[in-house]
Amino acid sequence: MAPIYLDYNASTPIDPAAAAAMRPFLDEAFGNPSSAHWASAPATLALAKARGEVAALLGCAADEVVFTSGGSEANNLALKGTFFALGHKGEHIITTAVEHPAILAPCRFLERLGATVTYLPVDGTGRVDPDAVRRAITLRTILISVMHANNEVGTIQPLAEIGAIAREHGVVFHSDAAQSVGKIPTSVDELGVDLLTIAGHKLYAPKGVGALYVRRDVKLESLIHGAGHEGGRRAGTESVLLAAGLGAACMLAQNLAPMSRVQALRDRLWQELQEQLGDRVRLNGHPEWRLPNTLSVSFVGRVGAEILARLDGVAASTGSACHAGRIELSSVLVAMGVPPEAGMGAIRFSLGRRTTAGEIHSVSKRLSRLLAAAG
Ligand SMILES: Cc1ncc(COP(=O)(O)O)c(C=O)c1O
Repeated sequence: MAPIYLDYNASTPIDPAAAAAMRPFLDEAFGNPSSAHWASAPATLALAKARGEVAALLGCAADEVVFTSGGSEANNLALKGTFFALGHKGEHIITTAVEHPAILAPCRFLERLGATVTYLPVDGTGRVDPDAVRRAITLRTILISVMHANNEVGTIQPLAEIGAIAREHGVVFHSDAAQSVGKIPTSVDELGVDLLTIAGHKLYAPKGVGALYVRRDVKLESLIHGAGHEGGRRAGTESVLLAAGLGAACMLAQNLAPMSRVQALRDRLWQELQEQLGDRVRLNGHPEWRLPNTLSVSFVGRVGAEILARLDGVAASTGSACHAGRIELSSVLVAMGVPPEAGMGAIRFSLGRRTTAGEIHSVSKRLSRLLAAAG
């Protein structure tokens, strides 16, 4: 049977338009974008074009875009860069219990340097309450970091409301939008953010490139010191190759129309599973405030990894991991209060531009057959 890829939240294929934008920089256009002679001209132009394309997607100015090596670096720059720049004002950071490790791990690191971090709880659908954010703010709060959409269950956070609260209190507001860019609107002004993370390989650009949006008046200490690249916010000669790929992917991501088809397929998968398996399946995440491509399903009383192992050729992710012979639920499902008998059977299906109706139908039929046979 042909392999089926339903793990677009893990990574996406490089779009042919992104690959085409990168091609010249594998060949003759090798110049350093910071040089001032003929050999650098194509690189300088391409870097500026790519920066403008990222900015166009986010609705910001080109000089507010800092290229990074990906989502993890952008998150680290946002958190550590703010802490190092504003440490004299306070040491309190507010985030949520359902963030990606690329937020949680830097927070733990900053705690070792004297930061105090509030990890806000979420409700059963994975949403944080904006009032809880308001209540957590103190005179020492320097940063609020709340992800736009969750990578495991797809739940979308009420960023605009949280952004308004952050502004009211004069606190810098960051969002990890690695999963939402290209799937739902991500205008930085509408979301009310000061800092926003994007990751290339989640939006049909290559791995190893991302960007941090930095609102013009926001102070940020660089994590990599050197020459004055990226407006002094990230030293190192830029990879024009990767930036060109990211820029082209951002141009494509402006058109969200293809997501309606993806959402219809996602909904069909859920509907077929419900019809065939009834209350043996449970939806994880918010029924409406959810990424259009993401379906996290709990097969109650089953083990997600075992189901996937028997769905030969289907690429998807589980919501639990096996450690020393014990099944451990992901911290996201734990924070949402998903009971262990449901959480251990969680599988995340994440669809994308290349997903077909035939693939969805085949997966739902195979799942039903497998689970019916298992009793
Ligand atoms: C929500 C979220 N943030 C950050 C990252 C990290 O991005 P990168 O792999 O580009 O470092 C990921 C990737 O899984 C993610 O899903």
